[in-house]
Amino acid sequence: MDSVLPKGPQPLSLDAIDLPLTSIDTLSPMSPTFFYKLITKVLGFNLKKVDLPDGLTGKNKIPSYALQEFHNLPNGYYSAHFSGGYSAGFNFFMLGEMNRVRKDMSTELSDCTSVLDLGCGDGSSVKALCDEGIPDVWGLDVSPYLLVHAIQRNKMAKFVHGVAESTDFHDGSFDGICACWVLHEVPAEICDSILKECFRILKPGGKLVIMEPSKHQFKKGYLQLLREFGLRGLYYRFLATFIHEPYINDWQDRDIKSSLESYGFAMVSNINSMPEEKIVAKKPVLTDF
Ligand SMILES: C[S@@+](CC[C@H](N)C(=O)[O-])C[C@H]1O[C@@H](n2cnc3c(N)ncnc32)[C@H](O)[C@@H]1O
Repeated sequence: MDSVLPKGPQPLSLDAIDLPLTSIDTLSPMSPTFFYKLITKVLGFNLKKVDLPDGLTGKNKIPSYALQEFHNLPNGYYSAHFSGGYSAGFNFFMLGEMNRVRKDMSTELSDCTSVLDLGCGDGSSVKALCDEGIPDVWGLDVSPYLLVHAIQRNKMAKFVHGVAESTDFHDGSFDGICACWVLHEVPAEICDSILKECFRILKPGGKLVIMEPSKHQFKKGYLQLLREFGLRGLYYRFLATFIHEPYINDWQDRDIKSSLESYGFAMVSNINSMPEEKIVAKKPVLTDF
């Protein structure tokens, strides 16, 4: 693919980010209070809105729907001390499958010149894209606490702080966009805005790749899951049911093909396996019609 257009926002540099301690950071991991908080959250009690300290870089850009204790994590994705362990923990609880999922997503985009990873978290998915040899990789995330790790981990990539539904990128800035385990973490109307934004900032002919938790985890019964996927099928169902995912039903109820087509995309494929659902769509060029 030929080179793509100028982008818009300046990449974020580490020294421009101020990350004050959040409430959970003020507790020692060895203290009884920390242990009590962790256990009660893990068991699903006392989940609260995330608290953001004054002085946090880009605090005004973080929308209220994102301030959730996703996955029962104390203070969610917002902690100066604990965000570094996020990726390892996520991969552990997903039985080591996330690296394969991210590799699969990146391989789909390997013929692209310029790719944006929406909801890049601590940069594991950006690393997979860089490893694929894609020359111009960008990551965007709403949590500055995770972005710092993404920047440290990926010297060749560029990062911006913001929300996927309203980026500052110019029209047609990328020939590839991806989102790994992000769309099920936003309310339905925000997901709609994200899909529209992807269409706007993709170049005609560009590709959108989405990886999300498989619909099988929700739509199939326990016995069927056991028969088709063994104990791991049951395990993922258990995770999907008991872990704090406030918007997961919005995602599960969505007819993604209709949504994508209503925003102008052409659906390429939609495969549900375990634990992931993989969606590939294309922004048509005029000659595709
Ligand atoms: C489950 S994590 C996945 C992170 C990463 N893609 C990976 O593969 O590890 C979801 C990420 O999406 C980010 N996120 C959620 N809503 C967002 C939004 N509207 N705009 C940008 N990032 C968002 C969160 O901050 C978090 O880092």
